[in-house]
Amino acid sequence: MKIVMNDNNRGIKIAGIGSFVPPLTVTNEDLAGTLDTSDEWIYSRTGIKTRHYNGGKPNYTMAVEAARGALENANISAAEIDYVIVTTSTPDFLYPITACLVQNAVGAVNAACLDISMACTGFVGGLDVARGLLYSGYNKILFVASECLTLHADFKDRATCVLFGDSAGAVVLERAGKLFASCMKAKGVSPEAPVLYYKMNNMINAPFCENNSDSILPRLQMDGKEVYKFAVDAMPEAAKAACEKAGLGLDEIDLFIPHQANIRIVQTAAKSLGIGMDKVYTNIEKYGNTSSACMPVCLDELNKAGRLKEGMKLCFVGFGAGLTYGAVIIEI
Ligand code: ACO
Repeated sequence: MKIVMNDNNRGIKIAGIGSFVPPLTVTNEDLAGTLDTSDEWIYSRTGIKTRHYNGGKPNYTMAVEAARGALENANISAAEIDYVIVTTSTPDFLYPITACLVQNAVGAVNAACLDISMACTGFVGGLDVARGLLYSGYNKILFVASECLTLHADFKDRATCVLFGDSAGAVVLERAGKLFASCMKAKGVSPEAPVLYYKMNNMINAPFCENNSDSILPRLQMDGKEVYKFAVDAMPEAAKAACEKAGLGLDEIDLFIPHQANIRIVQTAAKSLGIGMDKVYTNIEKYGNTSSACMPVCLDELNKAGRLKEGMKLCFVGFGAGLTYGAVIIEI
């Protein structure tokens, strides 16, 4: 293929999409059985009705299922993949990296491997990284987002655990002479006030080397109000900046696929951008917040419903721990 060297023609083709949502469904009523909470509280504050749990199984098992789905959908063999990228904030091991576990399971014998840790912004950031690799000479990238938040959530903390579920999504990416624009940003935080973090014993974000106990179990902690305030500004800022780079008006985006953190955050961001919710895809009611996996799961649903049409412009926009945030616009 002839690649025209300007930004609007150095885009990506999504050649295949897959996802995996574990079968175990947990309703708000189920959680109210063990926590002081209710369906009314959770649904009215977050838009979540159910989420799915991976039942204590390792995260990479979901990544592998989603990866197989994307390869099948792309109708290519794993041996054709020359890079496997996984984004996850809930890896099963510090090493080997999750991408190597996926590579081995699917048989991507000719691939290099890379893990990205960007929390919930990982799918957006990973698209940007993958696109760079495609234009540095790699031809087919298997990019997986897989998150097992239930391995890390504190099920005694009603303010956090009700939000999260587990899932994975994957795409096969190739170069394409199509529009692409990205705006990736971060707002660093101090370890004394990290806003959204895993607590290691009594130390906040302690380096792993300071912990010698076998009993360390990371637990996700968050200042919900601060995250909320950050998100409702960060998502519109990133979406606007990506549109500017693409030379597009917000009204020229066919569909926004936002991070599925909280329906009120999504609605507030949409309002601030002046776009109707008919232009925003959400599935948070069914799956809750599955961090970086939210967006490719949305994409797979759209694909399976026949809603992705050639030439459509999609804007992925998200935020996460870090605090990271960003938006990527692609043309289908
Ligand atoms: N059920 C019942 N009551 C609850 C629950 C619950 N599940 N959780 C908290 N409450 C109580 C609190 O204890 C508090 O009670 P109090 O007034 O007696 O102290 C009251 O409800 C209000 O709590 P708030 O924290 O003020 O509730 P708020 O309206 O802010 O909603 C929420 C909390 C839903 C977490 C909201 O702040 C939010 O969505 N924030 C953003 C979270 C988010 O998007 N995180 C992204 C994580 S993404 C990533 O990178 C992993």
